[in-house]
Amino acid sequence: MPQTIIAGIGHYVPDHVVTNNDLVKYMDTSDEWIQERTGIKERRYAGRTTETTSTMGVQAATIALENAGITKDDVDFIIFATLSPDYYFPGCGVLLQRAMKMNEIGALDIRNQCSGFVYALSVADQFIKTGMYKNILLVCSEKHSFGLDFSTRGRNISVIFGDGAAAVVLQPTTENNRGILSTHLHSDGSSAELLAMFNPGTHANHWLNEPLADFDEAPMGQMFMSHQMIDKAQNFPNMDGPAVFKKAIVKFPEVIEEALQKNNLTTADLQLLIPHQANLRIAQYVQQKLKLRDDQVFNNIEKYGNTTAASIPIALSEAWQLGKIKKGDLICMAAFGSGFTWGSALMRW
Ligand code: ACO
Repeated sequence: MPQTIIAGIGHYVPDHVVTNNDLVKYMDTSDEWIQERTGIKERRYAGRTTETTSTMGVQAATIALENAGITKDDVDFIIFATLSPDYYFPGCGVLLQRAMKMNEIGALDIRNQCSGFVYALSVADQFIKTGMYKNILLVCSEKHSFGLDFSTRGRNISVIFGDGAAAVVLQPTTENNRGILSTHLHSDGSSAELLAMFNPGTHANHWLNEPLADFDEAPMGQMFMSHQMIDKAQNFPNMDGPAVFKKAIVKFPEVIEEALQKNNLTTADLQLLIPHQANLRIAQYVQQKLKLRDDQVFNNIEKYGNTTAASIPIALSEAWQLGKIKKGDLICMAAFGSGFTWGSALMRW
């Protein structure tokens, strides 16, 4: 059976740099608070009307294809992961297919938030291993800046997130001991509401302890997104930061160990861990818990903030550009996020 390799990689971040001090103009926060709690110094915001999640994805995909030495016509399947799509539906996969004038190939959208890349990689790996596809284009992109609450009310969330995109081209290889060794996916929906965006949605308060909008009285046609929801800022993400933090620091090490054990490897064998860039404090905790050296962990959250689905592939692409990844290196990628969902992928580059 073939193994799946990353044959090409690329990332794209918008030019517009937004520092912590820039955010002080909108909300009661400070550079000191943000850096101390999250490690973030700045993030990028997409052009308000000039860039979308899909167009940033196209930029990253173009670099990844070039890097793989193939053209858009060689691609036989698209996977697109994001939580900030251009449209509620259809997903970004078809918008990318159209923008890149690609063949009428399949386009799958993944909605696993911060775990989007790891979930998508796992799906792609199955298609490659079974021989179904030979060139999968996996794109991750986020335009968070369009959907955050920039008032003080939303400061615990809005300071964390940034925009950006990354893409990889996945191909089969029969070369010994190369490619994805295993992927490990998990979920626990019991805490789904701790990190969620409820509206627009069809929940009608069903899962919520405290009702949001009044759905009984809402006129037909105003249930999905009403003026009341907007007035009450219910169209923004909701996060219990400390609860997310507590769960993340348990699940990250667990799922990394799971991947290593499955392959009879240990942390000593690992050249690089690329954790989802959720918060530098989480990554540092994981590093400490697994007793990893500084050179075994790659973080870039200080420059880009949390770019959700795009964070791991942006970091992977940057680490590769910096020469921190060589052929044969053992790389672990691990994610945790909304759902909760979490997962890991172990690969020999
Ligand atoms: N600036 C200044 N003060 C703030 C800000 C801000 N941006 N945000 C919150 N505060 C205040 C709060 O109002 C609170 O004030 P109070 O004590 O007067 O009530 C105080 O800071 C502490 O708030 P906490 O929420 O308890 O702060 P905490 O130390 O937990 O840090 C944070 C918050 C950074 C969100 C942290 O909980 C965290 O990182 N959690 C993990 C979240 C995460 O990683 N999410 C993303 C992963 S999932 C994904 O990527 C989709």
